[in-house]
Amino acid sequence: MRKPIIAGNWKMNKTPEEARELVAALVPAVKDADCDVVVCVPATDFAAVKEAAQGSNIHLGAQNVHFARSGAYTGELSADMLKACGVEYVVIGHSERRQYFGETDKTVNLRVRAAVEAGLIPIICVGELKDERESGYTDTIVEYQTLMALHGLTDEQIKNAVIAYEPVWAIGTGLTATDEQANETIGVIRKAVARKYGQEVADAVRVQYGGSMNPKNVKGLMAQPEIDGGLIGGASLKAPDFTQVVLYNK
Ligand code: 13P
Repeated sequence: MRKPIIAGNWKMNKTPEEARELVAALVPAVKDADCDVVVCVPATDFAAVKEAAQGSNIHLGAQNVHFARSGAYTGELSADMLKACGVEYVVIGHSERRQYFGETDKTVNLRVRAAVEAGLIPIICVGELKDERESGYTDTIVEYQTLMALHGLTDEQIKNAVIAYEPVWAIGTGLTATDEQANETIGVIRKAVARKYGQEVADAVRVQYGGSMNPKNVKGLMAQPEIDGGLIGGASLKAPDFTQVVLYNK
């Protein structure tokens, strides 16, 4: 009943020219996808991607958003600015931002609120470090990160949001959580949402898996009942790979 959503996170890759080329190749290739298709691109590529994706089923996403509406925040972009560029989705709280740019659960929550208030769909990233999994703290970490990120949102806003479970040890490493590990932890996330906001909200919110998802492992992961899609890094940078991931059920 939840529509799957496959999103590419290009991270800090692709000039506008390269972006145009990639999206031009994706447009005909993914046109029959049964899932929602999103590319989360650097802000410098918004215009090129918007133009190349015009009239297609490919939706534009950003990789971060500031929580203020405007003001003295050098280098930052507001939710209204993203909206004005045709952005519909925004990745928030990616582990790379938590690790390298001082993102905290508090600032993730502020960004999520700013995004939903502006009508953007947040893709909220949560996930444990290797040490945390090995010490048995995975569930505690993902429950806490999820509930902190959603704090203050209405039930309707949560139903519309997307959560991405990305175990940090699986990102860019070629290591993937097993189908069962990913399904189990996403189940833990959904149960936490159900306890706090009710089963109806938990049944509606889409939870993706992310971390070395690729054409080879996508089928197994997507066959799991709790997994509603993927957030794809490396494999989203090449049209044939991303196409195969998006068309996982074909
Ligand atoms: P990789 O697919 O390259 O492991 O990256 C996952 C990710 O961080 C998506 O946000």
